[in-house]
Amino acid sequence: MRYLLFLLIFLLLTKLKSLDISTVPFCERPLNFDGPDFIRVYEFEELHQLKLEEPNLQMFVRNMNDLTELNLDNVDLSAQGSNRSKTLANALPRLQSLSLSFCRLSGSIHPSFSQLQSLSHIDLEGNDLSSEAPHFFANFSNLVTLSLRSCDLQGNFPENVLILPKLQSIDLSDNSLLTGHLPKFPFNSSLRQLKLYNTNFRGKLPDSIGNLMFLTHLLLSSSNFIGSIPSLLANLTLIVELDLRGNSFSGSIPPFHASAVPNLEFLRLSSNLLNGVIYSSLFTLPSLQGLCLDNNHFSGQLEEFSNASSSDGPIPKSISKLPRLVYLELAANNFYGTMKLDIFQSLRNLNSLDLSDNKLSIEGDNGSFTLPNLAALKLSRCNLTEVPKFLKNQVGLKTLNLSNNQIHGSVPSWIWNSGSLYELDLSQNAVDFLEQPLLADSNQSKTVIDGGKNPSSSILGVLALRSCNLSRFPDFLKNQDILFYIDLSDNKINGRTPSWIWKKNLRI
Ligand SMILES: *[C@@H]1O[C@H](CO)[C@@H](O)[C@H](O)[C@H]1NC(C)=O
Ligand SMILES: *[C@@H]1O[C@H](CO)[C@@H](O)[C@H](O)[C@H]1NC(C)=O
Ligand SMILES: *[C@@H]1O[C@H](CO)[C@@H](O)[C@H](O)[C@H]1NC(C)=O
Ligand SMILES: *[C@@H]1O[C@H](CO)[C@@H](O)[C@H](O)[C@H]1NC(C)=O
Ligand SMILES: *[C@@H]1O[C@H](CO)[C@@H](O)[C@H](O)[C@H]1NC(C)=O
Ligand SMILES: *[C@@H]1O[C@H](CO)[C@@H](O)[C@H](O)[C@H]1NC(C)=O
Ligand SMILES: *[C@@H]1O[C@H](CO)[C@@H](O)[C@H](O)[C@H]1NC(C)=O
Ligand SMILES: *[C@@H]1O[C@H](CO)[C@@H](O)[C@H](O)[C@H]1NC(C)=O
Ligand SMILES: *[C@@H]1O[C@H](CO)[C@@H](O)[C@H](O)[C@H]1NC(C)=O
Ligand SMILES: *[C@@H]1O[C@H](CO)[C@@H](O)[C@H](O)[C@H]1NC(C)=O
Repeated sequence: MRYLLFLLIFLLLTKLKSLDISTVPFCERPLNFDGPDFIRVYEFEELHQLKLEEPNLQMFVRNMNDLTELNLDNVDLSAQGSNRSKTLANALPRLQSLSLSFCRLSGSIHPSFSQLQSLSHIDLEGNDLSSEAPHFFANFSNLVTLSLRSCDLQGNFPENVLILPKLQSIDLSDNSLLTGHLPKFPFNSSLRQLKLYNTNFRGKLPDSIGNLMFLTHLLLSSSNFIGSIPSLLANLTLIVELDLRGNSFSGSIPPFHASAVPNLEFLRLSSNLLNGVIYSSLFTLPSLQGLCLDNNHFSGQLEEFSNASSSDGPIPKSISKLPRLVYLELAANNFYGTMKLDIFQSLRNLNSLDLSDNKLSIEGDNGSFTLPNLAALKLSRCNLTEVPKFLKNQVGLKTLNLSNNQIHGSVPSWIWNSGSLYELDLSQNAVDFLEQPLLADSNQSKTVIDGGKNPSSSILGVLALRSCNLSRFPDFLKNQDILFYIDLSDNKINGRTPSWIWKKNLRI
């Protein structure tokens, strides 16, 4: 009967947002269970505020000897002090899965926690432990998943935990003070997910990382790794996501081939010290959705490129073999050569393209294609002489950065055709708005017709026109309600500043 009541209440709890458990009468008495020997307390996920104070954790788990899974995610356990692990260890010897994420636990994990050796799943994410990770985790030989993400961990993480034979997933991310090195990984490691981003892990990636044949996610961004990227990384058959951004990796990258990494979806290597060749095979990976090579020292005459491409362009024609590509970030490298944007026309899913700050020279296109999903186009310092014509027919563009090019004359009014432009940077181009475009204000959006043909709307937030050739204030901005940043510095604007400009909440 009690068991039924308990279950019922837990089912109700799943819909509740806030509950003070001390007011629930049945909880005033210790709970007694003689129900089935497999009991889950597992349904708190949707609760946002639940405080376990009176009865305390000890009473709560009393007589739950057979409990194998305990999930109190988001339950406020801050009142339990350091007794909680002792409580758990004594009362729940059979516990296999413990999930206490965002429970407002504080302080180090009590040594009695080391008795819970049958644990295979531990999730303590989002508690302010402000201490070292306990070394006894290395003795938890049943451990399959461990998440200590965002726990304010400090000191050196015990390497041996990373080579526990059954370990499949470990997440130590967002512990910026946590140091550590990667161990020598054994051949038969079960590891699938290794997440150490935004930590202070350091040193080189061991060649033995190639032993992690089940690895699907390797996320090491914003840490302190150095050295080269082991070529065996390009042989991890099951890899889906490889994120090494924001470290100090140097040297060249290994050749990634479709046959070796058929499942690779995201390859992010931004903001390292990488250089050398990019094999064009990189541009033929069938599953690739995101490729970020920006802010490195890649350069080229890129190997295989000249053959892959009919012109001598720096981006191989084979780029069109990436049908699933969503973003391509190649900015701030030393790629050079002349190219046309037409080579991207088959990338129907492309959402973001950034080729800025290389030594590229992008030639005009004849506007014969569109990229239906493009939201951000950044072509700063690309030696453009005109606004890319394909934008005339483009719908949904939000960010356009064409700064530092050789565009001159009047900005074509069709630049607003996408109807969604939020951020526009045309700085360092000798342009002016000779035809003042008719932009709708927010009341009229999609009804005002620009040039009698195309609808425009009012959602411009950022407009940078530094060092252009403006001779007067762009009046069409008057009705742009959400505009909050305009840079018109270093132009040749005559006359008084219009008064409407002071009515806006602007940073000029
Ligand atoms: C911890 O447990 C002991 C008895 O086991 C008790 O005396 C003490 O008050 C408890 N501390 C807290 C903070 O609950
Ligand atoms: C691991 O277990 C062994 C044997 O049970 C013990 O000697 C050792 O101290 C334990 N290590 C840690 C870090 O708890
Ligand atoms: C891995 O290999 C070692 C030695 O080769 C062996 O002792 C261990 O049991 C193996 N582990 C698994 C999970 O197969
Ligand atoms: C990677 O795998 C390919 C076959 O898929 C093999 O030819 C190559 O030798 C492997 N590379 C290394 C370094 O093991
Ligand atoms: C490129 O083509 C030339 C001749 O057409 C050939 O000699 C060279 O090996 C090719 N390079 C690559 C990397 O395939
Ligand atoms: C920029 O483009 C012009 C022609 O549009 C070309 O003459 C010039 O060489 C290009 N500059 C660079 C650095 O490629
Ligand atoms: C635009 O150029 C492509 C080749 O890049 C050509 O096939 C197409 O016919 C041209 N379209 C127009 C309208 O000139
Ligand atoms: C446009 O790109 C340049 C070069 O990458 C950058 O410095 C600038 O901040 C960008 N403009 C905006 C509005 O973000
Ligand atoms: C939009 O409409 C509201 C009420 O209809 C009005 O108060 C507001 O001034 C209008 N905004 C503009 C920019 O015309
Ligand atoms: C700048 O604008 C003036 C007219 O205001 C025009 O005469 C001049 O040619 C423009 N400069 C460039 C580089 O386009």
